[in-house]
Amino acid sequence: MTWTDDGPLRSVRYVTATINRGSATAPVSPPTPGKPVHTAPPGKLGSSNGKKAVMAVTGAIMVLYLVAHVVGNLKIFYGADTFNEYAHWLRTVGEPAVPPRTVLTIVEIVLSVSVLLHMWSAISLARRARRARPVKYAARRKSQASGYAVRTMRYGGVIILLFLIWHLLDLTFGAVNPAGAEGLPYDRIVQGFAAGRWPVTVFYVVALVMLGLHLRHGMWSAFQTLGLAHGRGYRPLKVTAAAVAVVLVLGFLSVPLAVTFGVVK
Ligand code: HEM
Repeated sequence: MTWTDDGPLRSVRYVTATINRGSATAPVSPPTPGKPVHTAPPGKLGSSNGKKAVMAVTGAIMVLYLVAHVVGNLKIFYGADTFNEYAHWLRTVGEPAVPPRTVLTIVEIVLSVSVLLHMWSAISLARRARRARPVKYAARRKSQASGYAVRTMRYGGVIILLFLIWHLLDLTFGAVNPAGAEGLPYDRIVQGFAAGRWPVTVFYVVALVMLGLHLRHGMWSAFQTLGLAHGRGYRPLKVTAAAVAVVLVLGFLSVPLAVTFGVVK
């Protein structure tokens, strides 16, 4: 057992961590000279922990937006007038104290910055992980570095980004929507998810399921980064991450499915 200055407890933790993480089964080459693996001091935004914190905070902002967005979307079940009034309110909220679209523009800026920072930290953390382990594990193992979770987050993230681009062109700008740029928000949804456009609905279903998996894993990772996911907090937080993801996905799915199957027309 390795004895550290902090005494036996620290040593036991050290050994446990080593066992849990396992060790490389192939030699790991030293970092390339002049290309340090770790450039920023821990705690700074550019450090690994800093980037994980950026991911957690920007992820939390986007989850809050999604909660508000799904609640707004569900107004479609109250009819065209209620939904269109709500869409109008989004553009006029805060008037006359502030000019039209002020709040919506702030939301758009915060969301765009969040998406960019979230992607930047994800890409640089992935690059750093690859640099730190230039030789792959000899045995395939279910690990954070190569497993299901990483694939879900990486490919899921790309699908969600493609979905977002289509979604904005479709329902925000009306560029690829049969109701067009002048169509009312309710008409864009009803015409956009009409039964004849079922491939669009299928794409939404796939993207939303990926979003759900991404959210579940992302929230769980954020809880771990914040040091909450241990002891008594472990199970409740794992269940919370899954429950929030399932509720959001079902809420979002209900709208395109209701239109495609003729419940909302
Ligand atoms: C089936 C589910 C969804 C439906 C029916 C839906 C519907 C809409 C509609 C109608 C708008 C335009 C609002 C308006 O301009 O009045 C919109 C905007 C938007 N949606 Fe969605 N949405 C869905 C899922 C999502 C998801 C999963 C995300 C994020 C991953 C998302 C992100 C956005 C964003 C960023 C905007 C632009 C907001 C703005 O104008 O600033 N939506 N959505």
